[in-house]
Amino acid sequence: MAKNKIAGVKGMEDLIDAGEAKKWLWIETMARRVFAPAGFREIRTPILEEANLFERGVGETTEIVEKEMYTLLDRNEKRLAMRPEGTAPVVRAFIEHFTSHNVQEGRFLYMGPMFRYERPQKGRLRQFYQIGAEIFGADHPLLDAEMIALSHQLFSELGLSGLQLNLNSLGSPEDRENYRKALAKFLDGIKATLCEECQRRIVRNPLRALDCKKPDCIEATSKAPAIAEFYSAEAAEHFTAVQQGLRAQGVPFRVNPRLVRGLDYYEKTVFEFLSPDLGAQNSVAGGGRYNGLVEELGGPKIPAIGFALGMERLVAILPPNAAFSGEPPRIYLLATDPESEQLLFPSLKALRETGAVVEMDFGGSSLKSKMRRADRWNADWVAILGEEERKKEVIILRDMKGQAQDEVPLDELFLRLIARFPTKHP
Ligand code: HAM
Repeated sequence: MAKNKIAGVKGMEDLIDAGEAKKWLWIETMARRVFAPAGFREIRTPILEEANLFERGVGETTEIVEKEMYTLLDRNEKRLAMRPEGTAPVVRAFIEHFTSHNVQEGRFLYMGPMFRYERPQKGRLRQFYQIGAEIFGADHPLLDAEMIALSHQLFSELGLSGLQLNLNSLGSPEDRENYRKALAKFLDGIKATLCEECQRRIVRNPLRALDCKKPDCIEATSKAPAIAEFYSAEAAEHFTAVQQGLRAQGVPFRVNPRLVRGLDYYEKTVFEFLSPDLGAQNSVAGGGRYNGLVEELGGPKIPAIGFALGMERLVAILPPNAAFSGEPPRIYLLATDPESEQLLFPSLKALRETGAVVEMDFGGSSLKSKMRRADRWNADWVAILGEEERKKEVIILRDMKGQAQDEVPLDELFLRLIARFPTKHP
């Protein structure tokens, strides 16, 4: 008799498409390329941790710990949890292997599966994959700006310039506590207008009521006291400096006073990268400052900041781009006169050094026949330089797969190509 089939676990997916797998690999490679030069070392922590790491770390009244954690008793009756997130484990490892040897600073990059017993829907899984980064050591606002700018850089290099960066400050822990009380009082006054979930949040976790997506709750809380009214001078100054730091690096953002995040360890800066293309589960990445967590988990007082992105959500919004094929991009350099040829020639070597496959069309045939050759050669990109472009100090960059072209400043050809078509493939 045929046996019953055993299905995969709900909310946990197989990655079986080779093209998808290459995208994952490419994103991981790009994350290493962005974070390694900034001093991050890779760390891999186990999937199982003691359950109370997250209860103490993420917070007992958070939804993640209260409702979503996969916990189990091992054969020795030890209560373990499958990690719902990566920050608390990295903090635990930092305390265990670094602060115990008097190391007070560190930068870590990690990647791996996380587990939350959520209601599965598009973009929301029970096993999902995060790439995260944490900086331990100082409470300086420019570190916040650096952390956020690095994540922004990663998204730009992946071709995702349309993500919206939402930024907020939760103030100091005292500010946050004062705000929590004031908000709870306000919510209690309008209790009848809130959904059941938010009614429960009044006592447990009132800040999360600001995160509720239900229109009635959004409307009901629109007159809630604003967190900014509760900032101490130091927290306000910190927040201003973070914003200045972001502007200085050309990272666009929007201050969203309702952004509170779902984990308890945050103070001061919090942020999320949202995608307009994702529907309800639109948060691609999130993070913030957590100055008290190292101490809370038994280490010395060392401030920290970090972020994590969700791989499945990120892959879902990647622009169609041949780079994900895992093949190096093919770039065809094309000059229409001898002077342009001379000017473009050095780019041949420079671009090849990035790992791209680059060919230059020498000689005096017509533009049309050069373009035909580029097409036959199966170019992904063609860079075209002629007399007219030289005068304007630009070069035409044609995307042969997307059939679009634009002019970029001549001295930026290299940077623009790399940004659009990241090279050095896995
Ligand atoms: P988080 O906002 O809970 O933060 O998760 C970060 C990202 O993981 C989200 O923006 C989302 O892309 C993805 N994610 C979360 N839950 C799911 C799910 N059920 N299905 C699919 N994707 C999901 C943290 O985890 C913090 N540890 C981030 C951090 C690092 N803060 C400081 N350092």
